[in-house]
Amino acid sequence: MPNSSTRTGVYRRPVIYAGRFVDQMASVDLPSDCIVLGEKDALPHKLTVLLNRANMLVFLDLLSFPLEAMTGEHWNVPIVVVLPSDFDAESLTATFGTVLFERLGFFDRVVTPDFALWEELRRKYRWAESQRVPVTSNDPSEVAATICTLLEAEPTSLATPNRDRHAAAWHWRDDPCFNKALHRVQAAALEPRFAAAQEKPGTKVPLDVLEVGTGAGRWASSFEWTETRFVGIDAGEDLIRTARDNFPEGRFDLLGPDLLFPYEDESFDLVFGVTVMHRYSAVAKRTLLSEMWRVARAGGRLVFLENFVFTRQPEKPAVYPMSVAEFEDLILDATAGRVALEHVESLRYPDEDLRRGGLISLLRLGAPKA
Ligand SMILES: C[S@@+](CC[C@H](N)C(=O)[O-])C[C@H]1O[C@@H](n2cnc3c(N)ncnc32)[C@H](O)[C@@H]1O
Repeated sequence: MPNSSTRTGVYRRPVIYAGRFVDQMASVDLPSDCIVLGEKDALPHKLTVLLNRANMLVFLDLLSFPLEAMTGEHWNVPIVVVLPSDFDAESLTATFGTVLFERLGFFDRVVTPDFALWEELRRKYRWAESQRVPVTSNDPSEVAATICTLLEAEPTSLATPNRDRHAAAWHWRDDPCFNKALHRVQAAALEPRFAAAQEKPGTKVPLDVLEVGTGAGRWASSFEWTETRFVGIDAGEDLIRTARDNFPEGRFDLLGPDLLFPYEDESFDLVFGVTVMHRYSAVAKRTLLSEMWRVARAGGRLVFLENFVFTRQPEKPAVYPMSVAEFEDLILDATAGRVALEHVESLRYPDEDLRRGGLISLLRLGAPKA
């Protein structure tokens, strides 16, 4: 498997922490560029250098890995956690809950042959079904072989991109670390907005949340499922199917070509979208904005995280990139000005000089529906 580059030109490789099982790795057909570490390699100073070059980090022997050595950007590397055998969900949670499980998200994987254990942890930490790597045994060599097969099969998500490292066609989307890092920046901006939606005095539980352009549903895991009714809508049939598989706790609907939502007026406390608007014409954007406003409750929130340019007239006004001014005008037009600006924030993405994310949070004005 060839090495993968990052946007900054550092070549990254999968790192498998095999710990006490390092000798058993000799019999496994691992990718040639894969770095396998034993317990002796896990001294913090050695580890830091190796983690800086990882495009994926596998904890094959989680019990002996020094998690405290993971700092800052190391958490941007997609992680594959092999759950140690003979532990139940309670003891795993007590040991790894705060230090690891709460940090795992949509771009990380969990490996276990125990479906009941997976289900219990998945619900607790709101993992997506697609994050599970099913295996048939706890044998470290077999588990390592399964993970390698997974890497080969997923060239653009977790694994090393299947490209020549010097190929001009290399694209940042092929860098799994970039995708996870981007997600973490977006999550850091969105999660306080999501929390604010839940903090309103007198807010009823469960909170009604709608995500427009939900994709595979990755933001569903930002909400406590017992306290939220999460609904996602998207125009992509495949994506809706994937989202349903990922999060059976949510509801996911297909959006028709008229872009009109199949929901009652004022039925959600929070309506949001993440990088959805930029490909649509001004007319389509206006329809979506007007629908988002219509289904939000008075006092409820409308949150947009998009990629913007900051000029009034972009070269192609109907498509990406979208100007902040154009978007503001559309919002005011689609809502007849019945919104108040609550929060605005510019997002800088790692290793990204040209694009800026922008987060806009609005409150829907008006008297609540009788
Ligand atoms: C870049 S993806 C983002 C997906 C998701 N919001 C996320 O952050 O993971 C853009 C999504 O918007 C969806 N989409 C595009 N236009 C849409 C529209 N008019 N209404 C609903 N979904 C739309 C696409 O199918 C796709 O899932």
